[in-house]
Amino acid sequence: MTVYLATVLDTPGETMLEPRLRAASGIALVVEDGTVVARTDRADARTRFPDHDVVDLTEGVLLPGLVDTHVHYPQVRVVGGVGLPLLDWLRERALPEEARLAEPGYAARVATEFLTGLAGAGTTTALVFGSHFAGAMDQFFPAAAASGLRITAGLVLSDVTLPEELLTTPQRAVEESVALATRWHGSGRLRYAVTPRFALSAGEAMLDACAAVVDAVDGVWVTSHLNENRDEVAQVRELFGVPGYLDAYDRHGLVTRRSVWAHDVHPTAAELARLAETGTAVAHCPTSNAALGSGIFPMRDHLAAGVSLALGSDVGAGTGFCLLKEALQACLLQHLHPEGAELGPAALLHLATRSGAQALGLADTVGDLSVGKAFDAVWVRPARDSTLDVALRHAADPADALARTITLGGPADVARTWVAGEAVTASRRTELENA
Ligand code: GUN
Ligand code: ZN
Repeated sequence: MTVYLATVLDTPGETMLEPRLRAASGIALVVEDGTVVARTDRADARTRFPDHDVVDLTEGVLLPGLVDTHVHYPQVRVVGGVGLPLLDWLRERALPEEARLAEPGYAARVATEFLTGLAGAGTTTALVFGSHFAGAMDQFFPAAAASGLRITAGLVLSDVTLPEELLTTPQRAVEESVALATRWHGSGRLRYAVTPRFALSAGEAMLDACAAVVDAVDGVWVTSHLNENRDEVAQVRELFGVPGYLDAYDRHGLVTRRSVWAHDVHPTAAELARLAETGTAVAHCPTSNAALGSGIFPMRDHLAAGVSLALGSDVGAGTGFCLLKEALQACLLQHLHPEGAELGPAALLHLATRSGAQALGLADTVGDLSVGKAFDAVWVRPARDSTLDVALRHAADPADALARTITLGGPADVARTWVAGEAVTASRRTELENA
C-alpha cells in the first residue's frame, strides 16, 4: 500500500459541460494493487493505513493520466512539418516516412521513440494509429505491452490512391488484422482497433474488409479520419457518391459506440446527428488543425448536437505529444471562432482526461482519481524558477494552478507518470531503450 501526498486536480463530472473540478492541496491518495482505495488527508491516512509507504508529491500538481484519442505511431520522426495542407503534407512528409516502417528494425526503433514520447508527456492511455505493415505492428504491440501504457491500436489499411508500397488487398487486410487482433486484443492493457486510413484511401471493398474484422473479433474498436480538410471532403463525397463523408463509413457498419473519428472540422448537421445517435466519439486535434490549416473545429455545433468529444495530439501533423498543449490550443482556437465554445480550465482538463476515457470506453477504470479508479496519474513538477514554477507559486488557489499548468506545462515538467500504480516514465524508459 502506498500513500501519495499531492495537490490533486481532477474532473469526475459526467461531461465536459459540467466537469466538476476537484482541486485541493494536502490530499492523500491511498493506492493498493494499482487502485485508489481512499482519498483523504495525511493524518487520516496515517491512522487508517499505518503500514504504508509515503510518496511526497506535494510540490507541483498531480493530474489523472492524460488520454490521447488520436496519435500516429509511425509519425514521431516527422513532427514539425507545419505549413502544408493535409494532402500535400501526407505526400511530402508523412507517407515517405511511413514507408520506411517496412523494415522491422526501423519500426522497432520508431516504436520505442513513440512510446517514450507518449509516457514522457504524461499520456497513460492512447488510441494509436498504427503502421501499414503487419511486421511493424509485430514490433509495436510487444513494445506497447512492455511500456505499461493502455494502448488501443491496429494495422492501417488502404487499397487505393496511396503509394504502391502502402497498399494491401482486402483479403490480406482481413487475414493480417484478424491475426493481430486475435493475438493482442484484450492482452493486458492492449486492445485492437480496425484502422482504415481514411475514406480517400480505403475503397468499398476495403471498408467491407474492415467490417469483416469487426465481425470476426469481439469487442474491437474502429478508428479513422473524418471531415478534416475541405478538398479531402469534396473528393470523398464525389468518389463514394455520398451526401456526407461519414456515410462512406456508415454504409459499411463502421459507425458504432466503439468508433472514434479524428478531426470532423467540416461536418454536416446530418453527420453530427448520426454521430450523436450512435454514441461515436470525435477526437478533436487542435494543433494539427492549425498546423495543416484544416480549419477551426466547430465545437459548439458538436456539443449542441450531443456528440462525445475528446482530445488527440495527432502526432505527427500535431505539434507534439502534450495533451496540455492540445487543451490550451482547443481553448485558443475556440476564442478565434466566431461562435466558439467557452472552455474554462475544468472543461479543458475533462477533455484531456475523463472525456478521453469515456470516448474509449474506459471511464470506469481511468480518467479521474476517485476511489475505485486505477492510479493512472501524472506528476507535473516544473524545474525550480521555470516560468511554470513561478506561476504555480503565485497561483491564487488549486483551480488557478490548473489554468497555469494547462497554459505553461509540457513534457519537460512531467516528473513521473504511473499506470495502475506502476511508474511508466523513468524506470520504463530504460527498459524500453534496452529492449
Ligand atoms: N488523413 C489520412 N491520413 C492522415 C494522417 O496521417 N494525418 C492526418 N492528420 N490526417 C490524415
Ligand atoms: Zn491523424
